[in-house]
Amino acid sequence: MGLSIAAPAMPAHRDDRELRLLADPELLRDIAFAVGGPFHMMYPERVGDNIDGFHAAFEQASVDGVVYYGKKANKASCVTRACAEHGAGVDVSSVGELGSALTQGIRGEELMVTGPAKSPELLWLAARHHALIAVDAPDELDALVRAGLPARVLLRVLPPDSSSRFGMSEAELDAALRRTDLGPITVQGFSFHLSGYDPVARAELAGTLIERCRAARALGHDAGIISIGGGFAVDYLSAQSWQDFRAASDPRQFHADKRFDSYYPYHSDSPGPAMLAAILRHGNLAQRLREHEIRLAVEPGRALLDRAGSTVFRVQGVKTRTAHGDSYQLLTVDGTSLSLSEQWFDSEYLPDPALWPTRPGVDTPASVGAATCLESDMLSWRRIPLPRAAVVDDLLVYPNTAGYQMDSNESAFHELPIPPKVVLHNTSDGRFRWTLDAR
Ligand SMILES: Cc1ncc(COP(=O)(O)O)c(C=O)c1O
Repeated sequence: MGLSIAAPAMPAHRDDRELRLLADPELLRDIAFAVGGPFHMMYPERVGDNIDGFHAAFEQASVDGVVYYGKKANKASCVTRACAEHGAGVDVSSVGELGSALTQGIRGEELMVTGPAKSPELLWLAARHHALIAVDAPDELDALVRAGLPARVLLRVLPPDSSSRFGMSEAELDAALRRTDLGPITVQGFSFHLSGYDPVARAELAGTLIERCRAARALGHDAGIISIGGGFAVDYLSAQSWQDFRAASDPRQFHADKRFDSYYPYHSDSPGPAMLAAILRHGNLAQRLREHEIRLAVEPGRALLDRAGSTVFRVQGVKTRTAHGDSYQLLTVDGTSLSLSEQWFDSEYLPDPALWPTRPGVDTPASVGAATCLESDMLSWRRIPLPRAAVVDDLLVYPNTAGYQMDSNESAFHELPIPPKVVLHNTSDGRFRWTLDAR
């Protein structure tokens, strides 16, 4: 059998709210008409469910735990509001993020302030609001000392054998703990953030930080918090689809025979809260945290947004092209890949978009380009096996885009409007209603 120029299907796991939205005969068309361009749908109730899942993992392990949402992953106000309503704090890295978290009801002491070389304004505001500040470098601690304000700090640790640009070396940590000029600053513990999704590496580094907390206590510090950062995996696709893609992916299934060297790991057997549970189990971490009365903080961004949003584009043009002897559709949508960020990391977002509305038809491979002048501005180089041929005015609904895909790179390139976020609300009469996000 010859190679099909269509890539294998990669159906996404979808939240019920999204399934109901896709099944509704009118709602998506009404919203598209009202907005008049691409838009992001947000399901903040799902964020609440995800937060509850992390809290349940802490509870099941009898660990004193706290969740800080990594706000960089999505700017929507409705997400931050869901955090306030479900007892999560927020991890912020700029004055803008700090201000919008407060506006959505996060209290100052529920903020974790991360990021390197924070601006004097951010440090001042963080101290004023009694936020927990993850100090990244000795000179940042100097700046806090100079500010003379009471401040609650964690010392961010440079993981062993890491070339990360973040965190402090052993010697810098030791020197910080021995400072005698800290005045009203209290060192309350340690933090780190690891790339990758390995629960064991996180559990083991957290274990060494328990010992660091004990040593810091011996020096007179009230050290009782360890933050293990974010990087909780998300399960976008079934194990089978992910395995099939990796086994059979071929550049001939991509427009212009495009090749990508790496992809996000789109399947996880232990996503989000299950990964937290695995971390807490490893090396009896939960028990050791309890024994030493240490609170564990987590800073999930992507995992709190799992299945909490989708991105909708209108098909604006349809071309038929031929590759390797077979024809396919080259669609142009009314937005850009700035609203589906993975392309900007030299990779591609793989979960299949839904072609809406559902109609009978013949399977048709399609690649998806943006409404810009850039040859490289493609949303999907991969030929998605759409269930029918697309026509102008159809909608393409990319699933599970709330975590980093939507707005980390958006700009008004070509003076195209930045897609608004539309918030879906369940109402007591069983109908959906929608509003524009407050920001
Ligand atoms: C310090 C810190 N915390 C939390 C996060 C959130 O990570 P994720 O969205 O992968 O959970 C990041 C991401 O870069 C980070 O740098």
